Amino acid sequence: MRLSTQVVVGVGCAVSAVSAVTLPRGLKDASQETKILPGAYIVNFEPLHVSTDSFFQNLSANGISATSRQTFDPSIYAGTSFHLHNASDSDIDIISNFTQVKSITPVRLHKRAAPAKRDQTVRLWDKANTFLKKRSLTESNDTMTTHKMTGVDKLQKEGFDGTGITIGIIDTGVDYTLPALGGGYGPGYKIAYGYDLVGNYDDLGNPVPDDDPMDCLGHGTHVAGIIGASNDPYVLGVAPNATLHMYKVFGCADYAPTDILIQAFIMAHNNGVDLITSSIGSADGWPEEPWSAATAAIVAAGTPCMLAAGNDGQYGMFYASSASSGTDVTSVGSVDNTNSPTVQTVSDYTVDSGSPVSFGYSLGTGNFSNVNLPIWADTFDTTVVDDGCSGFTANVTGKIALVRRGTCTFDEKVASAYAAGANYVVIYDNVDGVLTPSVTNTDISGAAMVTKVVGEQWIKLLAAGSVVEIHFSTNPILAVDTPGPVNTLTGGTMSSYSSFGLTYENTIKPVVSAPGGAILSTYLANEGGYAVESGTSMATPYVAGVVALFMQAKGTGMSPQEINNALAATAKPLDFNNGASTAPYLASVAQQGAGLVDAYHLIHAGISLTKSNIPLNDTANFIHHPEFYIVNNGDTTMSYDLSHEPAGTIYTFDSNYTIDYDYSPALFPPPMDQLYSEVTISPSTLSIAPGAKKRVTITVTPNPALNSTLVPVYSGYIKVAAASSSGESVRIPYAGVATKMNDILIADPTLNIFDNEYSVGTKAYSGPGSSNGTIDVFQPSSDNYPYVIWNNNFGTKSARMDIVAVNGSNPVYTVGLATVGSLPNYPSTYISRGLPGYAYPTPFDGYLSDGTMVPSGIYKMVLRIAKTFGDLSKSRDYEIYTSPPFYMDMS
Ligand SMILES: *[C@@H]1O[C@H](CO)[C@@H](O)[C@H](O)[C@H]1NC(C)=O
Ligand SMILES: *[C@@H]1O[C@H](CO)[C@@H](O)[C@H](O)[C@H]1NC(C)=O
Ligand SMILES: *[C@@H]1O[C@H](CO)[C@@H](O)[C@H](O)[C@H]1NC(C)=O
Ligand SMILES: *[C@@H]1O[C@H](CO)[C@@H](O)[C@H](O)[C@H]1NC(C)=O
Ligand SMILES: *[C@@H]1O[C@H](CO)[C@@H](O)[C@H](O)[C@H]1NC(C)=O
Ligand SMILES: *[C@@H]1O[C@H](CO)[C@@H](O)[C@H](O)[C@H]1NC(C)=O
Ligand SMILES: *[C@@H]1O[C@H](CO)[C@@H](O)[C@H](O)[C@H]1NC(C)=O
Ligand SMILES: *[C@@H]1O[C@H](CO)[C@@H](O)[C@H](O)[C@H]1NC(C)=O
Ligand SMILES: *[C@@H]1O[C@H](CO)[C@@H](O)[C@H](O)[C@H]1NC(C)=O
Repeated sequence: MRLSTQVVVGVGCAVSAVSAVTLPRGLKDASQETKILPGAYIVNFEPLHVSTDSFFQNLSANGISATSRQTFDPSIYAGTSFHLHNASDSDIDIISNFTQVKSITPVRLHKRAAPAKRDQTVRLWDKANTFLKKRSLTESNDTMTTHKMTGVDKLQKEGFDGTGITIGIIDTGVDYTLPALGGGYGPGYKIAYGYDLVGNYDDLGNPVPDDDPMDCLGHGTHVAGIIGASNDPYVLGVAPNATLHMYKVFGCADYAPTDILIQAFIMAHNNGVDLITSSIGSADGWPEEPWSAATAAIVAAGTPCMLAAGNDGQYGMFYASSASSGTDVTSVGSVDNTNSPTVQTVSDYTVDSGSPVSFGYSLGTGNFSNVNLPIWADTFDTTVVDDGCSGFTANVTGKIALVRRGTCTFDEKVASAYAAGANYVVIYDNVDGVLTPSVTNTDISGAAMVTKVVGEQWIKLLAAGSVVEIHFSTNPILAVDTPGPVNTLTGGTMSSYSSFGLTYENTIKPVVSAPGGAILSTYLANEGGYAVESGTSMATPYVAGVVALFMQAKGTGMSPQEINNALAATAKPLDFNNGASTAPYLASVAQQGAGLVDAYHLIHAGISLTKSNIPLNDTANFIHHPEFYIVNNGDTTMSYDLSHEPAGTIYTFDSNYTIDYDYSPALFPPPMDQLYSEVTISPSTLSIAPGAKKRVTITVTPNPALNSTLVPVYSGYIKVAAASSSGESVRIPYAGVATKMNDILIADPTLNIFDNEYSVGTKAYSGPGSSNGTIDVFQPSSDNYPYVIWNNNFGTKSARMDIVAVNGSNPVYTVGLATVGSLPNYPSTYISRGLPGYAYPTPFDGYLSDGTMVPSGIYKMVLRIAKTFGDLSKSRDYEIYTSPPFYMDMS
């Protein structure tokens, strides 16, 4: 394998062919989506062979030259990571053959779990901050609406503020210069410890650590403010007096490598933080994947870890992220804020040359500095849905074009306005709140966005014949509008971008959800100091703050499982929202977990449960009679009534499944129905003495009318209600899959295509596999390779690509098949499902994973993808595709 410092390829594609392969139906190359760091690997050691020194000695003894990247504390994660010099595929094979090595995995690059839509970053124009509205904690209308949603406002009034609790944050760093975050870092500061695990990477992509956690991306500063901002007019953290550690794992670039993440978690754990939070992740969904496994080990060692569920809700079911998929890791989903705060730039306008009126806007592109122009609109109808989508009729030369958001992209609207003569465009929103419009058009001098209220007001004035002129200042100022308008569409329901579980082991993720959509928090000082962002990135630190309050109330002796149990029991399940309206039934447990965290109930709960949720698995591994215990934490004997609250069943696939090349899970909103399960609860009423616990067994019968072909995921809650004046009730979520996971088609059967476009000719052949007596000839020395094009539409533990010599000797026996060997980088393990519209074009350049080159001859490529619950040693648990025979001319 060739080394390069640029970021490339995950599964497949060991060679970079000179020409791009033509993928059918306009599919994109999936190997560009999973990012790995070339040459960098993590090895996991066998339990009795954990010495990193002997590992590196053995590398040298085998003539393999490598630089150590990270050495992990073996009590948490027995393994190490390294960078191979002049790596060859045989090196990987030799290393995986070491008795010391359990597994070897390429270092993957992970992204921040945010920002998703409605993000808003203030630009570089802050000098004289004047503000429209301020946070007011003393008034009943507290502007921290996120705290009202969860009862954190009431807890703070009771004096809970995180005092004495230390939270480790693993993120992009923090702008500690902000007064809200303490104005510095180190002992005595709010940010008591900081460390930069990456610094500026060297040329090989190896980290150069230092101890300054200064943020250059803004994400970690936003996250830190959600937890701990204090002494600020607009933003108040959930736990404003908690102590924070910042472990910086991103340079100023977009990705964090797996080994750095594992190391950061271990550092935080070994530094004795009370809990760890990290808003980072990549779609994976296998608890066994290295980062998820290492995080689970830290949780098992006693430190609770909160991780973002992911922002891939648009892709539908079974798209959980690492490391939130790890066992007992607190995976957090996102709920939209009830209100939409905004951070805008302030300017003013005049009506018929009257006195100036202030308004706020959000800049998309260009610069409005010192622009003073009248506005004009193509239509005075503020209900038109596709304003500016098919050109402008007005001539807007010398004017600012005002266009309504909707139907087509911002770029298309900008292009229409530009074609009609405008150099500046202002788009007004069609819903409450305001976006930063994403505009890539470079012809236009400036494009910005204003709220619905402001835009409609201007249209009304224009329609009445007034001249509305905007005066953009040369030194704009920022305005924070908080709490902002009420979000009537999705406020208080699950954010549509929040990723859906379950994991590929059918465990329940997310565990719980928290406010994450439209969140005002601190931001880089040189970008204004405030931003509104959205994502499970924002929800995750929120839960960390809540757990800090819980620990302040109950002590730090609780296990991570007990914390998850309590978070889940006291959470409030939410009704499903499809992005436009709310359904009259609960959102699936696979989307919301236990529901919206209720911090007040968490701390004041009189009942606890001994599990955070009940995964029922699939029909082949169905858990028939799961049980849990109810604990009475009060000081009087209590009676409880148990009942079932069903949630909407989601079909993983829609009715187009298998039709017209559609083999991927349905996109958001996934198809849902209300065919609920029948649940018997035994006992359904019970009485428990103070401090005692009693067992409950449930039996769930999925609705027989569910169509198992479409992989229905049913779920709901068992409600435990105290039959007393306290009125307290807690819940435990359950979820199962009404099909056999091993029946789910993994590989897209319309792919599995043998691509012969680079064949250099044909050759006579009379064996099986050729319809016309000839086979294709490939000549790798002139960069002409055969390819197999495939995609997995569902998660798999292992994808193999083996080479079989036709009529030749096949000495390597793998999973019931005699082969000459595997392709380099195969088998590829614990991979998430591929996205719709993508495929892996996998070339064979004549080299095998043991570094040897095959002799000239006739070969076949055999692709084997394991069924989700497949036994990797059994050939029948794989879907198999065998290419036609072809001739490799290795001259
Ligand atoms: C791996 O080990 C086996 C048995 O110990 C040996 O036969 C084989 O050659 C080794 N492969 C490599 C690439 O070292
Ligand atoms: C050291 O390398 C050899 C291959 O040269 C391998 O067979 C052996 O298992 C390795 N030792 C350990 C402890 O991994
Ligand atoms: C909050 O209430 C005060 C009066 O108590 C009022 O002046 C202020 O405008 C209110 N703020 C918001 C954001 O509603
Ligand atoms: C904040 O925490 C520190 C200890 O970490 C404590 O000394 C101080 O009293 C706390 N402040 C408040 C307002 O509780
Ligand atoms: C628009 O008006 C300007 C002058 O105001 C003129 O120069 C230009 O040609 C007009 N464009 C169109 C497309 O009519
Ligand atoms: C479901 O069954 C599969 C196959 O036995 C197993 O790997 C998985 O861990 C099970 N999941 C749960 C949640 O029990
Ligand atoms: C289940 O769904 C599939 C795919 O839409 C369909 O072909 C089949 O007829 C359905 N089965 C039943 C029993 O409705
Ligand atoms: C199924 O495909 C048809 C044709 O592309 C499309 O109109 C329809 O909306 C699709 N149905 C679903 C449920 O996606
Ligand atoms: C015969 O089949 C081969 C391999 O499928 C193909 O490349 C070739 O074009 C075919 N030749 C003819 C004459 O059809």
